[in-house]
Amino acid sequence: MSCIAFLTMDSLEGFVSYDYLVRDILQQRGLRVDEVSWRDPHANWDQYELVVIRSPWDYQQSCSQFLDVLARIDASRANLQNPLKVVRWNVEKTYLRDLQDSGVTIVPTAWLQSPRVADLSNLFQQLNTGHVVVKPFIGAGATDTFWLNSNSSPELLQSIETLYQGRLALAQPFIESVLSYGEISLTFFGGQYSHTVLKTPKSGDFRVQEEHGGIIQRIDPVPEVVDFARRSLAAVQSDLLYARVDLVFLENQQPAIMELELIEPSLYLSYDDESPRRFADAIEAGL
Ligand SMILES: Nc1ncnc2c1ncn2[C@@H]1O[C@H](COP(=O)(O)OP(=O)(O)O)[C@@H](O)[C@H]1O
Ligand SMILES: [Mg+2]
Repeated sequence: MSCIAFLTMDSLEGFVSYDYLVRDILQQRGLRVDEVSWRDPHANWDQYELVVIRSPWDYQQSCSQFLDVLARIDASRANLQNPLKVVRWNVEKTYLRDLQDSGVTIVPTAWLQSPRVADLSNLFQQLNTGHVVVKPFIGAGATDTFWLNSNSSPELLQSIETLYQGRLALAQPFIESVLSYGEISLTFFGGQYSHTVLKTPKSGDFRVQEEHGGIIQRIDPVPEVVDFARRSLAAVQSDLLYARVDLVFLENQQPAIMELELIEPSLYLSYDDESPRRFADAIEAGL
C-alpha cells in the first residue's frame, strides 16, 4: 500500500486545517495517510512514498530547523512536495525579485536593509505615494506589517527602525484596491487551476487575513486573471503539487503578485466542495 505523510505540527489547537477532507478521500481510495509533525524526532521518512507539506503553521519561528528537517526528508526515500529547492526559494520574499526579473508584474517593491528613520521618511518620495506598507522579508499573517503615511509619528518610525535592525524589509506603495475590493487567492493543484477566494479586510483595517477579521468568499475571476496567475507560476520553472497565488489590482486594473504561497497550509478547501478531490487527484497522480 502506498504511504503518504501530511507534514503538520505538534498540536493544531487554535489553527484551522481542512486537510482531513483530502486525507479522507485518499483513504477511501485505499491509500494510507499519516499526519506527522515536522518536529517529531522519531519520524521515519523512508516508509513514505510522498511527504506533503501541509500544516506546519509554526515553521516561521524556527525556519532553519524546519529547512533541516525538509532536507532530511528530501534525502530519504520519500518524495517531498513541494520540492525542497522551491521551498528554500519561497521562504524569503526576495523571490518576488526573481519573479519580477522573469517579467511577472509584482506589487512595486523597494528593498531596505536595516532601514533608518530617514530611509522610512524618504519612502513617500521614493515610491511616489502618500501611503506605504513596510513588512518583513520572512513573515506571514501580516506580522510586523505597518501602514505609514507622511503623518506617521516619529515614535512609530523609530520603533520600526529598531524592529528591523539587522533585517531586510520590503516597502511597497499602499494598494488602494485592497480596501475597496480586497486581495484574491487562486489555488492550483498539480498545475491545474482549482478555485479562487476574495479576501476583504474588515472596516478600518487593511489586513485581509481571517485572523484579523477579514471576510472570505469564493469568486470566479475572469480568464485573464487566471492566465496571469498561471504565467506567474510558470516562472517558478518547477512542478508544483499545490500553489496559491495571492494578487491585487493596481490603479490601471492590472493584476500584480502580492505573494506566491508554495509552503502554504491555507488552501481554502472549505470554500469549494470539489477542491479536496482535485487536491487528492493531484496527490495520487504524483505517486
Ligand atoms: N502594498 C500593500 N498595499 C495594501 N495592503 C497590503 C500591502 N502589502 C500588504 N498588505 C496587506 O497586508 C497583508 C499581509 O501582507 P503579505 O505581503 O500578504 O504578507 P504575509 O501574508 O506573508 O504576512 C496583505 O494580505 C494585505 O492585506
Ligand atoms: Mg499574504
